Amino acid sequence: MHILHIISSPRSNSYSARLGHQIVEKLLAAHPGSTVHERDLTVHPLPHLEEVFVRGIFTPDEARTPEQKSAVQHSDEVISEVLAADVLVIGSPMYNFSISSSLKAWLDHLVRAGVTFLYGANGPQGLLTGKKVYLALASGGVYSEGSPMAAYDFMAPYLKPVLAFIGLTDVEVVRVEGTSIPELEPTALDKALASVEV
Ligand SMILES: Cc1cc2nc3c(=O)[nH]c(=O)nc-3n(C[C@H](O)[C@H](O)[C@H](O)COP(=O)(O)O)c2cc1C
Repeated sequence: MHILHIISSPRSNSYSARLGHQIVEKLLAAHPGSTVHERDLTVHPLPHLEEVFVRGIFTPDEARTPEQKSAVQHSDEVISEVLAADVLVIGSPMYNFSISSSLKAWLDHLVRAGVTFLYGANGPQGLLTGKKVYLALASGGVYSEGSPMAAYDFMAPYLKPVLAFIGLTDVEVVRVEGTSIPELEPTALDKALASVEV
């Protein structure tokens, strides 16, 4: 089994990164011999989408200018890493009720017409099928079902549909919640990890 671990928090003691690492450890224990590739989006940030990229992805490979080729290469790399993985562990800190801009940039390079999704006779069709995804989500507050703050959660309700759109439908959401709440913080990470099934 090959695991891709995406990190998108810049903090050295990040809960989402620690939860992601612990999920990877659980997977390695359950599937000895598995391999892991880690992409830290804060150490190697992807560029925001620029005109040269947008023109490049709608130009056939052989007709791309050197600048378009170079812009599209980031997307090709991101896509090939996901294609190579059987399992994705995606860490995400909550920033202003949603995901970080570094994770959004990764998605902008991953969701690509004709490559990771296409519009067929029956509407949109995701092409990255047969993979399992664990979302390791960290938030200062509590947003899980039943919380009065649930309506402010634009992290899981965004990530799940956009991943499903490209075929990643088998998604387990794991939350480290209340990292800014003194009564919840000490047990938040262990509680999240205990809920993970591999
Ligand atoms: C710029 C910024 C914005 C944040 N926005 C929110 C928010 O909207 N809701 C929330 O519950 N926590 C918010 N937090 C708290 C983080 O979600 C919390 O610290 C979380 O643990 C970050 O993930 P990490 O530990 O993986 O870095 C914010 C933190 C920062 C630095």
